Amino acid sequence: MCGIVGYVGGRRATPVLLEGLHRLEYRGYDSAGLAVANRNRLKVTKAAVRVDELRDLVEENQPATTGIAHTRWATHGEPTDANAHPHLDTAKRIAVVHNGIIENAGRLRARLTADGVELVSETDTEALAHLIAAALADGAPSLEEAVRQTLREVNGAYGIVVLDAQNPGQLVVARNGSPIVLGIGDGEMFVASDVAALVRYTQRVVYLDDGELATITADDFVTSTLQAHRTAKTPMTVDLDDSDYDLGSYANFMHKEIAEQPESVRRALLGRLDDRFGTARLGGLNFDPRDLRRIRRVKFFGCGSAYYAGQLGANLVEEWARLPADAEPASELRYRNPVVEEDTLYVAISQSGETADTLAAVQELQRKGGKVIGAVNTVGSAIARECGSGVFLHAGPEVSVASTKAYTNMTVVFAMLALSLGRVRDLSVSDGSRIVAALDSLPQLISEVLDGEDAISEVAKEHSGAERMFFIGRVRGWPVAREGAQKLKEISYVHAEAYQAGELKHGPLALIDPAMPSVVIVPDDELLSKNISTIEQIKSRGGPVIALTNAELPDGLADSVIRVPRSEPEVDPILFTIPLQVFAYHLAHHLGRDIDKPRNLAKSVTVE
Ligand code: AGP
Repeated sequence: MCGIVGYVGGRRATPVLLEGLHRLEYRGYDSAGLAVANRNRLKVTKAAVRVDELRDLVEENQPATTGIAHTRWATHGEPTDANAHPHLDTAKRIAVVHNGIIENAGRLRARLTADGVELVSETDTEALAHLIAAALADGAPSLEEAVRQTLREVNGAYGIVVLDAQNPGQLVVARNGSPIVLGIGDGEMFVASDVAALVRYTQRVVYLDDGELATITADDFVTSTLQAHRTAKTPMTVDLDDSDYDLGSYANFMHKEIAEQPESVRRALLGRLDDRFGTARLGGLNFDPRDLRRIRRVKFFGCGSAYYAGQLGANLVEEWARLPADAEPASELRYRNPVVEEDTLYVAISQSGETADTLAAVQELQRKGGKVIGAVNTVGSAIARECGSGVFLHAGPEVSVASTKAYTNMTVVFAMLALSLGRVRDLSVSDGSRIVAALDSLPQLISEVLDGEDAISEVAKEHSGAERMFFIGRVRGWPVAREGAQKLKEISYVHAEAYQAGELKHGPLALIDPAMPSVVIVPDDELLSKNISTIEQIKSRGGPVIALTNAELPDGLADSVIRVPRSEPEVDPILFTIPLQVFAYHLAHHLGRDIDKPRNLAKSVTVE
């Protein structure tokens, strides 16, 4: 959600900033801009363009060695040149880039206008630039102090970087709710909202905490709180480099990340399955069997696809551990005043580890004494740090806005969690071993699904004229249907609605007609005959049916069939989601969509 980059050091800043923006464009692509400081003047280029077009507008050879840059996902004000970041004060001394939302921006802007300041954008961020400049004019002893005084007046979420034309050898950064990471180089420093922008130059990083500021120069960084207390930070090394963010031979990241799944699932399973005792061991949890037995209920929460993964996880916990379990959108949970129970295990789910609603739900549950663990992909992220213990997903960096490999690894991790909870209860060792074998064979089965990509692409092409689609599932197939619809709608803009098979006849059947295809999830389990009946209901109203199945269906029952390899029935939902990712991808591709940059969306929703 918006990308921030900053640089101070010995190189020309502009190419470093452009390269960083290029890496962060998946976090927002409504507009882009940068500011560099040279001879006590700011040179600013910004427009409602993508990063590649910004490159054509800037002079890459400028000698400036300090600068800041931003790629935007609009929150306050439309995507226009004027609303693009960086934002400046009237004298063009201070430049600010900002992620997040300043909630009292209306009041701050009104005050500035009353003081005679002419605001040139509709953004909340511009107010910060004017206020910092005013604090300096009023005698703040340093840029850092001017930023601190300004931020004390601000309510809301921010990650900001501030550049002062009069002090071009330093940047001041601050974080409250939106990620900021410093990259420590040799005689140079980087700052970004995401390590993706830094790892080309350095692996040594420092994550700021909420309420922290830092002044960074080429050789040093000093951190402190909003109350001006110094803080001590220990740099950590991230196990990532630039190649982790390369497209290689793929046309886009979604396609690349779908294809990586056999490998990313293998990583999620590595060292965690125990064949001998038919169980799983999730080291990051630090639970012994007695701790596991004390858990009486499991609650999964996350947003979007992470929430659907949680629903799949809850089903598995109920099936294998016979514990009550459910999933809830974190955006609801955080405001619902939930009853928090001591013996409930709360599982926060997030690829990015930065999703604002999920983080807020974690904090709310913890405030009420809830035991919260994280299922997070990004090491060092806010949710991972807030939870303290949990399970990393090991999916590797996910760049595509549409989550694929991280979603799949969430479901695999939940299968292992459910298995370990089941094995300290009534799940037998032979059932445990059966499940271990099924999980172990997932990478191979996913490869088999991906080998059928051309056939799935043909089915997608056949149905690419549809303006609306149903995704129908029952029990195990229900989270599969929801995630399938989610993938299709976000990248193709086809209206896709997931529905429980048994509910169809209670209303939505009225929508079925020849222009409304239904993707029906038909695993070969005890509900097979029920799902066949559902297909017949749809067919008898003239609705085209695409069956996703590992069963032998009667000839001619469905108009198109997408075949899935056999696994164990409980593990089917993990596998069944993969062909739906491929289906959504190819349908969007046939429609000529910009798959990695779907309209109105961005990766990592760090605002409400
Ligand atoms: C997934 O395809 C979506 N783009 C979105 O629903 C995403 O899963 C959601 O925003 C949660 O993100 P997180 O996993 O980073 O918390």
